[in-house]
Amino acid sequence: MKMKAEERDRFCMLNNGIAMPRLGLGVWQMPEGGQTVQAVLHALQHGYRRIDTAAVYMNEHSVGEALRRSGLPRQDVFITTKVWNDDQGYDATLQACAASLKRMGLEYADLYLIHWPVTGKRSATWRALCELKKSGQCRAIGVSNYTIRHLQEVLDETEEIPSVNQVEFSPFLYQKELLDYCRQNGVQLEAYSPLTRGKRLADPVLAAMARARGRTSAQIILRWIIQHGVAVIPKSIQPQRIEENAAVFDFTLSDGEMARIDALDEGYRTAWDPTQIP
Ligand SMILES: NC(=O)c1ccc[n+]([C@@H]2O[C@H](COP(=O)([O-])OP(=O)(O)OC[C@H]3O[C@@H](n4cnc5c(N)ncnc54)[C@H](OP(=O)(O)O)[C@@H]3O)[C@@H](O)[C@H]2O)c1
Repeated sequence: MKMKAEERDRFCMLNNGIAMPRLGLGVWQMPEGGQTVQAVLHALQHGYRRIDTAAVYMNEHSVGEALRRSGLPRQDVFITTKVWNDDQGYDATLQACAASLKRMGLEYADLYLIHWPVTGKRSATWRALCELKKSGQCRAIGVSNYTIRHLQEVLDETEEIPSVNQVEFSPFLYQKELLDYCRQNGVQLEAYSPLTRGKRLADPVLAAMARARGRTSAQIILRWIIQHGVAVIPKSIQPQRIEENAAVFDFTLSDGEMARIDALDEGYRTAWDPTQIP
């Protein structure tokens, strides 16, 4: 199915024909309970149609609760969760997915990811994800923190190509080689910690660009990621920031601005580094 330019901004067409909202709310470090229910509900009430959680975040129940309270039809919201490292392996992954669905109170996840490329286990975990997709418990399956080598291993071992690879990606960690590889192989790249967890928002290049456009540095970063065709899941528990982070579809960065942000890359990571994982 072909999409118009504006739709392409807002949605990614995954390799199995499912449209995934390009921007979602990340909920890492949000505690299970009322505060997270409120934050997710606020996001859903302000246009977000995708939530990114994981078993290890221990807030899946709150995500499901917010979805129910929103009153939105299940099919209108795209929910991602992930199998944690301790649950990798074929049987354990099947059980972990069932447990996640039970905590969320959902019949299916829209996207189920391998959280980390655990050595010696990830191949069996991937076979379990293929089975979960076949049985309808997950509409799409993918991986997270996979380098080109890890992705190539999946492509060599199975017919099923991951729909998504979720990795750390920001102007300070512009993983161009990985982005090109994913594009060539039909894998949608998705950016986590896009705002560098707030650590680099005062960067002078971003701040000057934001000032000139009457935007915030966070919005400039999110726009840069979207224009690179990458999906993105900024986290905020604060209502105003949740709204601010979603207001990124009404302006376009010029080629010059994109190039200046590209040049900020310095291999800067805020999270774990998978590059040495065999
Ligand atoms: N697959 C993986 O291994 C992996 C690893 C890390 C993260 N993730 C996913 O990616 C999501 C996002 O990554 P992240 O949480 O690490 O970092 P992030 O989205 O880059 O940054 C979140 C931090 O920035 C602050 N913030 C949010 N919006 C802001 C704004 N407009 N202005 C200033 N500060 C702002 C938040 O504070 P407040 O909440 O107080 O607003 C929070 O401290 C996670 O929630 C999770 O879903 C996945």
